[in-house]
Amino acid sequence: MQNPYVITISSEKGGVGKTTLATNLAIYLKALNEELPVTLFSFDNHFSVDRMFRIGKGPGTGDVSGLFTGNRPEELLEVGEYGVQFIPSNRRLEDLSQVKEAGFDRLARTLASGSLKGIVIIDTRPTLDILTRNALYAADRVIIPVKDAPSLENCKNLYEFCESQGISKRALRLLPCLIDSRIRYKGPFTDAYQLLKAYAINRGYRCMEGYIAKSPKVESLNTNPEGRIYPILTHGRGTNVHLQFSHLARQVLLAAKDCEQHRIGEVRQSLVLQQQKREQSLLQLRERFVPDCLICGSPLFEKQENTTANYYCETSDGQISGYLEETCFSDLVFRYFYRSQKEIAPSNPLRELFRESAQRSYFVMRLAAAKNGFEKSCLAFHRFDEEGLEISQKTIEVKEFESRFIHREKTKLYRLIEATVLAEKVAENSFLLIRQVDSPSSTGMLLDEYHSVFEQTMTSVANKLR
Ligand SMILES: Nc1ncnc2c1ncn2[C@@H]1O[C@H](COP(=O)(O)OP(=O)(O)OP(=O)(O)O)[C@@H](O)[C@H]1O
Ligand SMILES: [Mg+2]
Repeated sequence: MQNPYVITISSEKGGVGKTTLATNLAIYLKALNEELPVTLFSFDNHFSVDRMFRIGKGPGTGDVSGLFTGNRPEELLEVGEYGVQFIPSNRRLEDLSQVKEAGFDRLARTLASGSLKGIVIIDTRPTLDILTRNALYAADRVIIPVKDAPSLENCKNLYEFCESQGISKRALRLLPCLIDSRIRYKGPFTDAYQLLKAYAINRGYRCMEGYIAKSPKVESLNTNPEGRIYPILTHGRGTNVHLQFSHLARQVLLAAKDCEQHRIGEVRQSLVLQQQKREQSLLQLRERFVPDCLICGSPLFEKQENTTANYYCETSDGQISGYLEETCFSDLVFRYFYRSQKEIAPSNPLRELFRESAQRSYFVMRLAAAKNGFEKSCLAFHRFDEEGLEISQKTIEVKEFESRFIHREKTKLYRLIEATVLAEKVAENSFLLIRQVDSPSSTGMLLDEYHSVFEQTMTSVANKLR
């Protein structure tokens, strides 16, 4: 298999056997096919995966947080017991800002950027949080353990989420777990398994074949003086659960073999397409790049030696890509942002101070609705930090907006907005994002690695200004 087959174990109900299922399924799969790479990780914070699979003391080179912070998944792997490779757990995963701000597709993109093969099993928490959503989004198969009627009711939310993300309902399968086979009912459905299955089918849910019974032996595998968790395969062979897991693993293996279109493969394809689009739009931006300062009109390339830093700017619709000379932009900031009445001399230390602090900032200009009712007579000027957090904001009245106020000579500010957010080809509501760059590389911002960071800020700023 070129792409991994991803199985997510999920249920909003706690204690239904998710972790037991995920960990033991990994072992049974490996036992069925030794050659098959099986990778396991968990988003819950009980560290069951680590306790069951870690060889030696650990910790390894990384943990599941790396899946959200730009690592390749194979860098995070630890070779575990029973031939299963695992990614160590993390206690405070939900506190990571990258997790909080992640889209639903973050994990899928990480897996698509890596080279994991075979089967990947993801154990989730009993909530439909951002981690579970990521695990659902990446899955070829979602196994939902249900042990009773309330846990079956909870499936609705998982189905709704998958539907909203265009994930086929066919990927989802219920599996009755922790079934107490001693309990018998009168009527057509004689035990809990049959009853749950009937409920599920009645609601239009598909089920895995079979179920996992409740077994005191299995329950005892978690508690022992060594502090380990023992697998059913090695320590519960005499139980029905052993046979049930063997059957389940065979089903999973067959489904993985039959799977033609892998989720991660789809994501990989869409990433390639996105990359092609990005390269194309970058090419267009390069062609559109205005090599004269948008404020004073001096050509960038003539002044390279005597400027220490310039500013790259781009409208959010990508129609204008240009540069601003250092002094032009800082004059503008002193005048309008800091309300400085006097001209600041080129040698004034304030300029150096500003230049330094601006290295860690992004500036945004956009037309703002005017308080006095005159359309487009105000400009909002924002300053963001590198994390995309807004540091400050000013609203500036621009008199030239109204023809009756036109000055003989246009202000620097007006020249800038006329060349950018007010330009005819620029879409309405576009804003201008400005970022300092080292001279003479104002055009360097149009290299892929720099521009992708600029783009990310553009997106996060756009979300904040919405
Ligand atoms: N087949 C089984 N027979 C008996 N006990 C079981 C079985 N499967 C799991 N258990 C026990 O049930 C408890 C909950 O199981 P597990 O931790 O796998 O559930 P979970 O859904 O992952 O829980 P959580 O939602 O808290 O993460 C554990 O004590 C486990 O040992
Ligand atoms: Mg669990």
